[in-house]
Amino acid sequence: MIAGLMTDASPVARRRTFAIISHPDAGKTTLTEKLLLFGGAIQLAGEVKAKKNRVSARSDWMGIEKERGISVVTSVMTFEYDDRVFNLLDTPGHEDFSEDTYRTLTAVDSAIMVIDAAKGIEARTRKLFEVCRLRDIPIVTFVNKLDRESRDPFDLLDEIEKTLALDTAPVNWPIGRGKSFAGTYDLAKNTVRRLDADEEATPVNGPDSPAVLEMLPPEERDAWAEEILLAREACKPFELQPFREGHLTPVYFGSALRNFGVRDLIDGLAAYAPPPRGQDADLRRVEAEEPRMTGFVFKIQANMDPNHRDRIAFMRVCSGKLTRGMKAKLVRTGKPMSLSAPQFFFARNRAIADEAWAGDVVGIPNHGTLRIGDTLTEGEDILFRGVPSFAPEILRRVKLQDAMKAKKLREALQQMAEEGVVQLFLPQDGSGAIVGVVGALQLDVLKERLQAEYGLPIDYEPTRFTICRWITSDSRQDLEGFISKNLSSIADDLDGAPVFMAASPFSLRYDEERAPTIRFSDIKDYQ
Ligand code: G4P
Repeated sequence: MIAGLMTDASPVARRRTFAIISHPDAGKTTLTEKLLLFGGAIQLAGEVKAKKNRVSARSDWMGIEKERGISVVTSVMTFEYDDRVFNLLDTPGHEDFSEDTYRTLTAVDSAIMVIDAAKGIEARTRKLFEVCRLRDIPIVTFVNKLDRESRDPFDLLDEIEKTLALDTAPVNWPIGRGKSFAGTYDLAKNTVRRLDADEEATPVNGPDSPAVLEMLPPEERDAWAEEILLAREACKPFELQPFREGHLTPVYFGSALRNFGVRDLIDGLAAYAPPPRGQDADLRRVEAEEPRMTGFVFKIQANMDPNHRDRIAFMRVCSGKLTRGMKAKLVRTGKPMSLSAPQFFFARNRAIADEAWAGDVVGIPNHGTLRIGDTLTEGEDILFRGVPSFAPEILRRVKLQDAMKAKKLREALQQMAEEGVVQLFLPQDGSGAIVGVVGALQLDVLKERLQAEYGLPIDYEPTRFTICRWITSDSRQDLEGFISKNLSSIADDLDGAPVFMAASPFSLRYDEERAPTIRFSDIKDYQ
């Protein structure tokens, strides 16, 4: 517990909404379990794992997930610790669902980056970090698996600094490594924690005090004393402002599996992670402490419960208080919507939410009214920006086995695109719909869902296009001219925005050069 930071804060100021980013196998699932344990959500221990081991009833909702043992579901876990309410937004582990992960990262205020101490920064960690950097999301680093053979801590810090251009400030330091890993030493406070179970860390006189040295085998003591001396001299101290601005990461060493360092981490998160941030909308910035409710949808999940065929929109509350039964305005359509059964999620269980505050994520059951990127308000006409679409890396034409069902297919594809399962492009020359995905597994999910939920067996055909870009221009005339000249390479996306499709990166570059007043963009914000 961090003394002095516990105030009678407002419900919004108590919220900490975060995600965990990591490369597969670094320990995200294990760490999630341990964090939930601290949150008193003890009944959940094992459930996160269960999901992976394919025995969770919840994740049975989709056959494909069962078959492959991967989690397609992004879920939200809420727990309390140290007078804070933590909302942990889980993200799919498989990189084919990275679009989902990117969108989820727009709904968090901070992230924990988990690094395997033997491997350092891996490819997916770097990519997810870059997504966080786009929004200056503060990052707390957890170097995991120190109970195993691992790399030198200085080496790891250096790698974070160099590869991510991010300053590091180690908060704790491992006492021993591998087999002799015995606990963690807090560099600023001069305290020792042997196990996460130690609620209060023990104050000591310094790293060379006998109480610390005795934790290590005699032959390792001198080397450790030297190492920690260097750590104190050479490493930057933690500072709140550069952390909150996304320039500096506090680093915690530990072992999620063996219960080392996780309490240090969660204490740090409670103390330093920012409360809900303001969010940019088209007309103004919305501050979290504003009294009127606003929120945006960053994720849609259909059919979580096969018996009910329901569709849940996950909304991040951006300001104010959401109360059960309140009327909200769906700004895209201007229509009112009654929030009669908003839900909170506890890993496996759902509960009706009577109230939710800025920073919380609620599930709103609906039958297709809500789409990704939608804004809900108490009446104000503003649209949140920033839930992005990424240019797909795979484009396929959808081929219907039964040509009579073309209209039904169009509707089904529209719904799937609204849920973010795939992106949909309708070529202006009237040829068949093209779907775009970032990872090939998304295509499998689409095919399976079209069959299971709409009775539409489909196949995919390659198109002559491999790459696409949203096109805009300051000159409407130029844009229209470009479109009419390239009609067979233009499609409309779900919102009717024009997209230029090219056969190869080379030909795209060629067209780009010949149309200097046209902007070709690989990211589009939903509006
Ligand atoms: P992920 O969600 O990031 O993919 O990683 P996960 O937590 O599933 O961990 C990957 C593997 O690393 C698991 O082993 C897990 O037990 C192990 N692990 C996680 N944290 C630590 C740690 O602090 N120390 C050590 N030594 N191992 C750790 P597995 O054999 O793949 O799975 P399981 O059979 O243990 O379930």
